[in-house]
Amino acid sequence: MSDHDPTSSASTPQHLAIIMDGNGRWARQRGLSRSEGHRAGADAVVRTIENCQKYKIKYLTLYAFSTENWKRPASEIAALMQLLGEFIDKQSPMLDKYRIRLKIIGEMERLPAATRQKLQEAIARSAHYDAGVLTVALSYGSRNEITGAVKALAQKVLDGQLKVADISEKTIHEHLQTADLPDPDLIIRSAGEQRLSNFLLWQASYAEFYSTTAFWPDFGDDEFAAAMAEYSRRQRRFGEVLS
Ligand code: IPE
Ligand code: IPE
Ligand code: MG
Repeated sequence: MSDHDPTSSASTPQHLAIIMDGNGRWARQRGLSRSEGHRAGADAVVRTIENCQKYKIKYLTLYAFSTENWKRPASEIAALMQLLGEFIDKQSPMLDKYRIRLKIIGEMERLPAATRQKLQEAIARSAHYDAGVLTVALSYGSRNEITGAVKALAQKVLDGQLKVADISEKTIHEHLQTADLPDPDLIIRSAGEQRLSNFLLWQASYAEFYSTTAFWPDFGDDEFAAAMAEYSRRQRRFGEVLS
């Protein structure tokens, strides 16, 4: 859970989370395949990482593939997984350059072995970097994550390591995959949708939500700046009365 100072107005988020949506619609508009939309979306990810450097945002979390996205056609899933592998090959020097640690949340075991291996290598290589954390949500679903935390806590109670009375918001937080991250301050969703689609349900309790109509491949420097400007105008109250 993030430490926040409710007396100050928001400036720049410490933790930015993005629901990267609209690759398919972007492609359709241009008569391209959905895979080409995802490819263009990968370029927007690079720009976003650069912008986080510029705005000194330490934590960036990207929703790249949901548990529900497994219901998409096999050909689209295969193209996405292939693209993910290529992205790591091509862009992992960015992790070294900015000293960013890569973290994956979600069911990594469900990913194809080749993709998983590339991810594991990048995770290991960047494990000691501490200037930033890039978290990618892959085969991620918040309900799945919370279910996992509940199971782990139940097992600890059964094993006598934990008392039911000691289960708290803090212990639940500690059993989520995001245990080492502060809560997101701002969640951006592209392509105009106004929903979380099973993303960070617990963690987003007090996140500011920002929706832009831009499709994800069109999310560039101006879009990023507009989101930051809007965030800085928000007054975060966390339930309190501000003077
Ligand atoms: C977001 O773009 C990327 C993933 C969910 C993998 P979409 O593929 O959802 O694009 P739309 O929503 O169909 O336009
Ligand atoms: C949410 O986008 C998941 C990701 C961005 C990875 P979707 O396109 O899958 O969400 P819905 O189906 O519009 O809710
Ligand atoms: Mg979508």
